Amino acid sequence: MQAKTPEQSKTILTDMVLPGETNPLNNLFGGELLARMDRAASIAARRHSRRIVVTASVNHVAFTKAVPLGSVVTVEAKVSRAFKTSMEVFIDVWIEDRESGERTKANEAIYTFVAVDDTGRPVTVPEVTPETSLEKERFAAALRRKQLSLLLAGKIKPNDATELKALFE
Ligand SMILES: CC(C)(COP(=O)(O)OP(=O)(O)OC[C@H]1O[C@@H](n2cnc3c(N)ncnc32)[C@H](O)[C@@H]1OP(=O)(O)O)[C@@H](O)C(=O)NCCC(=O)NCCS
Repeated sequence: MQAKTPEQSKTILTDMVLPGETNPLNNLFGGELLARMDRAASIAARRHSRRIVVTASVNHVAFTKAVPLGSVVTVEAKVSRAFKTSMEVFIDVWIEDRESGERTKANEAIYTFVAVDDTGRPVTVPEVTPETSLEKERFAAALRRKQLSLLLAGKIKPNDATELKALFE
């Protein structure tokens, strides 16, 4: 299976924030943003694997900046690393200034998807070849994040989280 670059899975979803999608402060409701990120990330994972993909976990979400009603929101998702059947997808969220068009980073998140066959059984996916320095950085730290996610889900023992342990040595 031929390796692919993160650029090959890049998925961009641009949409507005409408009144039904906000919280009482008139900012984008967190669950709505999670859904948009899940949608973009799932398309990126599908482009990488060319398979049916399911969300296995949401590893990290940082709602660092509120997104006001009427904002134009761009969600950009790319597969940052693939393991055997799972893929880590990095999502960056931007809002743009109405007058200048200047983009500001509002949020980011990391999701894990698993490629499955028609019966829902995990299947192998191509590797990722990172190109830019940011892609290389995200690729390098992905194994640590996978181990943390599996540890929190009770799927591995602390002793098996070798990359995480190495952080404290
Ligand atoms: C995701 C799913 C396919 C994993 O099935 P499973 O029986 O745990 O399969 P495995 O143990 O073989 O794990 C498959 C891969 O997922 C990874 N994985 C499983 N749980 C994970 C978690 N919590 N965090 C990160 N990776 C995880 C495993 O490490 C493995 O990766 P690898 O093959 O790249 O090494 C299964 O749990 C599932 O179908 N869940 C429902 C998914 C869904 O419906 N999502 C939508 C939400 S409503």
